[in-house]
Amino acid sequence: MAKPCRVRLLASFLVATAFAFASAFPNPFSAAADQQQIPRILHQVYLDGDLALKQESRRNDTAFRSEWLESCRRATRGWTHMFWDLEKARALLSDKYSWFLPAFAAYPKTVLRGDAIRPFILHAYGGLYLDMDVECFRSPEPFMAGFDLIFQSEFPEADDINNAIMAGVPGHPFWMQMMIMLFMKYDQTLRTDISWSLILDSTGPGISKAAFQAFFPGIAREDNLLGSWRATSSIVKVFGLGTWYCPCRWNDQVCHRQVDEMRGNDTLPSNMMGHHRYSGSWTPTKHGLYRGQAVLLADRASHLGLTLYLWSFVLLAVALAAAARPLLRRCRSRRAPDLTLPIALLRRTRSTARLRGD
Ligand SMILES: *[C@@H]1O[C@H](CO)[C@@H](O)[C@H](O)[C@H]1NC(C)=O
Ligand SMILES: *[C@@H]1O[C@H](CO)[C@@H](O)[C@H](O)[C@H]1NC(C)=O
Repeated sequence: MAKPCRVRLLASFLVATAFAFASAFPNPFSAAADQQQIPRILHQVYLDGDLALKQESRRNDTAFRSEWLESCRRATRGWTHMFWDLEKARALLSDKYSWFLPAFAAYPKTVLRGDAIRPFILHAYGGLYLDMDVECFRSPEPFMAGFDLIFQSEFPEADDINNAIMAGVPGHPFWMQMMIMLFMKYDQTLRTDISWSLILDSTGPGISKAAFQAFFPGIAREDNLLGSWRATSSIVKVFGLGTWYCPCRWNDQVCHRQVDEMRGNDTLPSNMMGHHRYSGSWTPTKHGLYRGQAVLLADRASHLGLTLYLWSFVLLAVALAAAARPLLRRCRSRRAPDLTLPIALLRRTRSTARLRGD
């Protein structure tokens, strides 16, 4: 009698443990099904508009080509494609972020506006933002599932966050962090002698990096930013140089040529979604402002997380089993069930029946 009792007890404890554990600590390293996904929207910004872009494309020393825009639309077939010109950008701001409209209007250069509008677009709609000098090879969709924010680092040190390639869910407060940092710096641009480094610092990658540092201080302290991170209630991915949309350093002409050749002979690596060509004339900003310690790469992080998760399950089960030992002891010491009363009742019933029958 004791054996089935113990087995039942053990089974019910295991089930109870599993339920208690799963409800108290949902596995943070599996992408939850109810998580909001980055919407399938491709945003591209050319404030001078579609016509100006077509004209620019015809020049042979062009910085931007409509073929590249088209290649990205082809690579995201089935997505919503949003092309932002100045009119649309202004309408978005006056509709939802009118507090920024005066600053936006005051920027003395179009390039500043083209930079500044990005977090507003991504906050309002979510999706993938790509610069106009990005050519696309394939759909990024298989690499986007489960993440709230996706960034690109473009330097070998992997301590930067580029604003040319950004993706995320709509309404994410990181975009607000970027907006605030833009707003705090916009008056620096109100001067006539605007250098490229000032642009990079006041609306360009300087802002995306500063916002990242402010919003994800834990990640920013690491030696490099590459990998998948769980921080500030978000799952964040940072792709590095050589993957995602930045196969090459901005000034590595040999690499840029090789990518074209690989595209020609169909040997592009599968983690290369496109080619940021850096055709916009610009100079590198000072980078490497912060270099933390330690590395927690994506796969290592999730592997460690899963291991810890399983081990904590085992520990909880052991703890519960220890707590259940008194019950188990009762189980063991319990004698065969006392059947005197039912037998007596049965006998009485039978005797009564017999009496009646007789
Ligand atoms: C661009 O066109 C000009 C004249 O139309 C020509 O002289 C120049 O070599 C061309 N440049 C390239 C890179 O094709
Ligand atoms: C394709 O092009 C790349 C880049 O130039 C080169 O390294 C590679 O050997 C080429 N592969 C083939 C199969 O031609």
